[in-house]
Amino acid sequence: TIQAASALRATEPVFRDEEYADIDWNNLGFGLTRTDYMYVAKCTENKEFQQGELSDYGNVELSPAAGVLNYGQGLFEGTKAFRGDDGRVFLFRPDQNGIRMQIGAERMCMRSPSVQQFVDAVKQTSLANRRWIPPPGKGSLYIRPLLIGSGPILGLSPAPEYTFLVYASPVGNYFKNGMAPLNLYVDNEFHRATRGGAGGVKSITNYAPVLKAVLRAKEQGFSDVVYLDSVHKKYIEEASSCNIFLVKGNVISTPATIGTILEGITRRSIIDIASDLGYQVEERCIAIDELMEADEVFTTGTAVSVASVGSITYKGQRVEYKIGDEMVSQILHKTLVGIQVGRIEDKHNWVVEI
Ligand code: COI
Repeated sequence: TIQAASALRATEPVFRDEEYADIDWNNLGFGLTRTDYMYVAKCTENKEFQQGELSDYGNVELSPAAGVLNYGQGLFEGTKAFRGDDGRVFLFRPDQNGIRMQIGAERMCMRSPSVQQFVDAVKQTSLANRRWIPPPGKGSLYIRPLLIGSGPILGLSPAPEYTFLVYASPVGNYFKNGMAPLNLYVDNEFHRATRGGAGGVKSITNYAPVLKAVLRAKEQGFSDVVYLDSVHKKYIEEASSCNIFLVKGNVISTPATIGTILEGITRRSIIDIASDLGYQVEERCIAIDELMEADEVFTTGTAVSVASVGSITYKGQRVEYKIGDEMVSQILHKTLVGIQVGRIEDKHNWVVEI
């Protein structure tokens, strides 16, 4: 439990100024902060990825004919490094991101680094940028691995060269209003993904097309958009930046990942944590009406962590949900973060100390 976990805390927080970059750690949002180093590895002509190396963070040079620029052959990942109360640094399930990159690369006909190379690159990038990992409680270092078709190609074909790149930036809360409950808008016009498409992998091509829906919703004061399935326009899928869950009684439900929904690592971790805590968890088709009648709604993602939803608006109807410390989403959030920063026992071996 959370109380028992707090008792596990061995030492008081350590925060020595000289270990940290000179920025305002109290106001981190999700903006890009330039850090010191990035990791780059290349792979040419169907060979294995070469050993990568760290270089100064900076621009990358690409052919105008690069596959990623012309045909969107690219994947990204997101993972985080956390500082524990005693100054130790932890990664959270980086192997899962490496596996997901391999699955995505297969879908997008790209070469991909091994899971071991992926995890090693994330470790190297985090340690090289250690002074940018926020002090305990102030945020985390968001790590962005990219896999791009960097080789030139004119006709529609896989690129002849791939670049695996990892950069990082310290971040705080993803949404502008911090941890305030989200107001979500269910879009009836735009869809995020369709059956047979690439919605289930972290292709860069899943993100630009939702900008129009997101910007439109933000102009009206919403935090993000929830998409419906493109066939029936009835079942919820996910939000632009995160997966979605609902709570009804003791049951927690989330849409099943049937190819149109991103296989979130936070999503999967929350399913396991909720089961550990004794909730019944279901992955299934969820109609929009059921979402509107839920006791509680929340979203999950690496960037977002676990975010409570205060309201959902669909076809002009707005429903508001229960908000407060006793919410299921708050319990799940505290447990997840507790594990990530080494404060709560990590019984699944998710955390990697570096
Ligand atoms: C993440 O949560 O890491 C993502 O990749 C979502 C992105 C829109 C920030």
